[in-house]
Amino acid sequence: MAKKYYELSPDERLALLQLSDQDKSAWHDNQSDNNTQIVENYITDFRLPMGILQDIIVNGHQVSVPMAIEEPSVIAAANNGAKMLNAGGGVQVVLPKRSALTGQLLFTNIDFDTINQFVLTHQKILFECAKQSKPSIYKRGGGLLSVVTRRITDSDVSVDFTIDTKDAMGANIVNTILEAETTIFSDFKNQFIGAILSNYAIDQLVTVTGRVPFANVGGQQVAEKIVSLSKFSKHDIYRATTENKGLFNGLSAVVMATGNDWRAVEASGHAYASHNGQYQSLTTWSIKNDYLQGELTLPISVGTVGGAISAMPQAQRALRMMAVETADQLRGIILAVGLAQNLAALKAIVAGGIQQGHMKMQYRALAIQVGATIAEVQTLVTKLRALKQVDTEIAKKILMEMRDESKN
Ligand code: MEV
Repeated sequence: MAKKYYELSPDERLALLQLSDQDKSAWHDNQSDNNTQIVENYITDFRLPMGILQDIIVNGHQVSVPMAIEEPSVIAAANNGAKMLNAGGGVQVVLPKRSALTGQLLFTNIDFDTINQFVLTHQKILFECAKQSKPSIYKRGGGLLSVVTRRITDSDVSVDFTIDTKDAMGANIVNTILEAETTIFSDFKNQFIGAILSNYAIDQLVTVTGRVPFANVGGQQVAEKIVSLSKFSKHDIYRATTENKGLFNGLSAVVMATGNDWRAVEASGHAYASHNGQYQSLTTWSIKNDYLQGELTLPISVGTVGGAISAMPQAQRALRMMAVETADQLRGIILAVGLAQNLAALKAIVAGGIQQGHMKMQYRALAIQVGATIAEVQTLVTKLRALKQVDTEIAKKILMEMRDESKN
């Protein structure tokens, strides 16, 4: 019998796709045995550039942070933001007493009081079931912390399980426990819709703060404008969305470099950005005692073990590089990078605009885009940097001129 697509080898899959020989062989060359095992229908690795935020002080410790991202100016900006924060002593982290993730059993057409009563009278058995279904997390000191009933509408109810997943991000742990727990709710089988973790990681709220002396941000006037910009994004969804996007440039680059689930972190972050009824920027800048003061609070669900992290050597190398062992340490570093990234963006916007620095960083990518070879990139970038105006056509023209010159 013919093999199913998912049973084929990566090269057999490539052979079935409409590809030029050149693309086929490039994708073949980018395969890795390890990643073949990670996703279904694997054909190749998709690589992103990884760079370093060289030095950020987090809770008094200097850390070099790996960042995986395609946007050329992000890592330069993160370094810049970190330098400003380091001048004020670096970033301080406040962690929750005990981090936990929530899982939901979802019910509809149900009377709240009836199921609430059931949950209250079955606490012992619900806790016992969690222990039986995931003993390994109990061995590591985690496990179920609470089970409560939450009214969603007049007829919809969520039974929320709060679970300490220790240094794992915990999605699998939570879903395993939840699915075991559903058996206890057999009396409500007809009203039961489903069981799934929630990515709203409200029990993993982390706050980072930092301050910058006026001189290091470009003077008091620049600091005041940063504060005005920050206030603006508390009232305007257009600006808040962009500011949070910029924040996630830095945050998600570290989340990705460490093999964590950046969609979970971003979903939770954006949800929290509207927790008081209006979508707002997640950072707040103010002036206190002649310093520009920044604060960022975000629910952040990441891990240092389990799932893809343990299966991807590059993620483990990234964690080793930062000497990070616990998920809490990682949370603090990720948020510190976010604060630095946001500071650099706000400073660039109020002090001359981002395009100057941004475009200069884009020139290397632009050079590749217009067909420059690796040997030609640096010369082309130098020529582009000397110009007032640059676009694809101009870059192409200069590349052609360079080639003509080298022929003569
Ligand atoms: C660009 O990727 C990110 C910024 O737009 C963020 C911001 O506006 O705050 C510079």
